[in-house]
Amino acid sequence: MKEAFLPLEPIEKASVDELRSLQLKRLKKTLQHAYANSAVYREKFDSVGVHPDDCKQLSDLALFPFTTKSDLRESYPFGMFAVPQHQLVRIHASSGTTGKPTVVGYTANDIAMWAGCVARSIRAAGAKPGDKVHISYGYGLFTGGLGAHYGAEHLGLTVIPFGGGQTERQVQLLQDFSPDIIMVTPSYMLALADEFDRQGLDPRNSSLRIGIFGAEPWTNDMRLAIEKRMGIDAVDIYGLSEVIGPGVASEYAQTKDGPTVWEDHFYPEIIDPETGEVLPDGELGELVFTSLSKEALPIIRYRTRDLTRLLPGAARAMRRMEKVTGRSDDMMIVRGVNVFPSQIEELILKQSALSAHYQCLLRKEGSLDTLTVKVEMRTGLSANSTEAQTAAAKLEQDAKAYIGTSLKVELCNEGEVERSMGKAKRVIDLR
Ligand code: DLL
Repeated sequence: MKEAFLPLEPIEKASVDELRSLQLKRLKKTLQHAYANSAVYREKFDSVGVHPDDCKQLSDLALFPFTTKSDLRESYPFGMFAVPQHQLVRIHASSGTTGKPTVVGYTANDIAMWAGCVARSIRAAGAKPGDKVHISYGYGLFTGGLGAHYGAEHLGLTVIPFGGGQTERQVQLLQDFSPDIIMVTPSYMLALADEFDRQGLDPRNSSLRIGIFGAEPWTNDMRLAIEKRMGIDAVDIYGLSEVIGPGVASEYAQTKDGPTVWEDHFYPEIIDPETGEVLPDGELGELVFTSLSKEALPIIRYRTRDLTRLLPGAARAMRRMEKVTGRSDDMMIVRGVNVFPSQIEELILKQSALSAHYQCLLRKEGSLDTLTVKVEMRTGLSANSTEAQTAAAKLEQDAKAYIGTSLKVELCNEGEVERSMGKAKRVIDLR
């Protein structure tokens, strides 16, 4: 018999001291590489008078300047890359709602490291040898599809590279090819579940055992809703294209207690988003990443805009991050109160009359900001029914009581809230 598929790598069993020592060695090398080979980093370091030799211990990373999305945009398309173009084997880009996309590049070693991280993630999710993986993340410039694909293949699984869209056909193939695992955004999983219903199929009877969900914020209530509806284990995979793509951190199926950061490749910090000061583990703030082994585009102290906290390692010496339920970009300020879509999601999912399809609309009425939440009824329930009206009134009350904000609920019938094939758009600003 072959050995258990893709056995644990030694670093996954390492002690905290071994891990920190590897991180320091890799950090020094990354800083040297960025400084020597990327004019953008050299200028940034020089402008604050810091040199890679100043990094003697991991905490010295705080001496170095942050990198932001605008650094990547200003050096569009390839200005921050630290290897000659002929060493690049792949380029990805984020669409970006405003301005130019951010472009990222990979050497062959980068792709291998990325595939290794995604393979670890899928194994942590509970994959078994022989499993088939249906991938519904978009293929193309978005990192979701190809990132998941290379990882699943690296783990030795059978990949069904469907990509996003063609919902009816996806469900047909989910039935016919009987995959064990699905990798998809949580919001699109719900659209697929609706399609099962539409075809008169019970999604709990599908062959799926595990869902690996990410690319957008989703709450633990959403996890429970998906698990119940699909009859699967739902785990969280986190990542961003500037750092690598999916697989920067991922959750263990047994514990579902927040993604473990693959710290041998990505060094996390939490900072105060206002002052930039590094906060101790356990405190809530903005997540910042430094790559420890990337070649084509080393990333130093990248500000993700994602809000979370670092938690002690559970299954590994590597730390976990609390499930990201909000991005600072998604924060709505309604009459002085900060509101995240995830807070609204939690309240919606407490009510059995409502479905998990929702959107937040911001408008201006006179000089005042108003928030309207469009939410669909659960299947078969009309928006005009008494049960629906009671649910709307309760949601408005709960928002006032638990979030401290007034909002208007607009009840919608099934199919009336826009579906996305990938990342859901939760906030629509009409001001
Ligand atoms: O969304 C990479 C990815 C693909 C991750 C597939 C997981 C699965 P970007 O398009 O660059 O990359 O978007 C990155 O998406 O900063 C977060 O705000 C959000 N995000 C990604 N994963 C999660 C998650 C991909 N598990 C941005 N929970 C990040 C919450 C997530 N937010």
